[in-house]
Amino acid sequence: MAKFLVTGGLGFIGSNLVEYLINSGHKVINVDKISYSSNFYNIKDIKKNKNYKFFKLDIIEKKKLSKIIKRYKPNCIFNLAAETHVDRSIDSSNNFLKTNIIGIHSLLEILLENRNVKLIHVSTDEVYGSIKKNSRADEKTAYKPKNPYAATKAAADHLIQSYINTYDLNAIITNCCNNYGPRQNPEKLIPKIIFNIFNKKNLPLYGRGQNTREWIYVQDHCEALLKIYLKGRNGQTYNIGTKHNFRNIDLIKKIISIAKKNNYYSDKSKIIYIKDRPGHDLRYALNSSKINNKLKWKPKVKINEGLSNTLDWYKNNKDFYKFIRNKNFKERLGKKR
Ligand SMILES: NC(=O)c1ccc[n+]([C@@H]2O[C@H](COP(=O)([O-])OP(=O)(O)OC[C@H]3O[C@@H](n4cnc5c(N)ncnc54)[C@H](O)[C@@H]3O)[C@@H](O)[C@H]2O)c1
Repeated sequence: MAKFLVTGGLGFIGSNLVEYLINSGHKVINVDKISYSSNFYNIKDIKKNKNYKFFKLDIIEKKKLSKIIKRYKPNCIFNLAAETHVDRSIDSSNNFLKTNIIGIHSLLEILLENRNVKLIHVSTDEVYGSIKKNSRADEKTAYKPKNPYAATKAAADHLIQSYINTYDLNAIITNCCNNYGPRQNPEKLIPKIIFNIFNKKNLPLYGRGQNTREWIYVQDHCEALLKIYLKGRNGQTYNIGTKHNFRNIDLIKKIISIAKKNNYYSDKSKIIYIKDRPGHDLRYALNSSKINNKLKWKPKVKINEGLSNTLDWYKNNKDFYKFIRNKNFKERLGKKR
């Protein structure tokens, strides 16, 4: 049994990871500042588990975080605390710099005093920027972040690399593609489309829907992260991808077709094209051969199965929406600029 500290464990991936680690027999300390994207519904099944503890805390609060780490002595910190929505970062990037860069700096400084604690930092494929057709970014591809969110994630990755190089810090960086599955805030593409299908509303799509993303079911991402803790080498970077690449328009058509099969779809929901995100990257695509070959990790969930599970989850967990403040998903957030 290992002891993990997960930051951002009330959010989408964090809460799935917390539950996965608890169900795999580990102890988890969850540290989250509780923001708009946190949802207590996400941890309802494990909140009373004797192996689970929660602290409301901003990772920028170095002294308090350091106290928790010294008291609980986790084997590893999975860092998922972040501002995550590109459109919000276009409106205002202050909080993105605070959490995604200064927050990481706090964490790194604490780790210099706690050398036995490993850091596994969860980053994104967006740091590589838009990737040309027929090409994929591997771990050696140069970073080219193109929006404020991606730039702050890239900055954090660079800072971590510098601590690994300078102080021999016990840390690993992971760059994952787009996640989908239960518990994601409906301001993001897939849950937004599902929410609008269930509410018989139109399905807004940026630009002409030509942007391509690579998709991973969140449970597969959680398994990869535990594998990296168990088998990954310190100081390394691992891409976590699936090669399940789809243009947004094709993905939405897929969701509609599965929703029809499951009797969730009414003809009232039509795809509508709305003004594109400024500077919208056309294509993300990862080469994940390193984790496939060196750590023997491969994703298990195929896209149709994952989307069907996701639709069922949102249908059967209506109370999830009670915690969501903004329920109007007609237009792009971040329209101010
Ligand atoms: N969702 C994806 O497709 C995806 C893909 C690759 C990487 N990632 C990365 O995975 C991580 C988690 O993403 P998510 O989609 O679950 O995000 P999310 O927005 O659903 O959850 C983020 C959580 O972090 C918490 N948080 C934010 N700032 C904090 C702070 N300063 N201190 C403590 N807690 C704080 C929030 O309250 C929230 O509960 C992020 O680092 C993100 O960059 C996400």
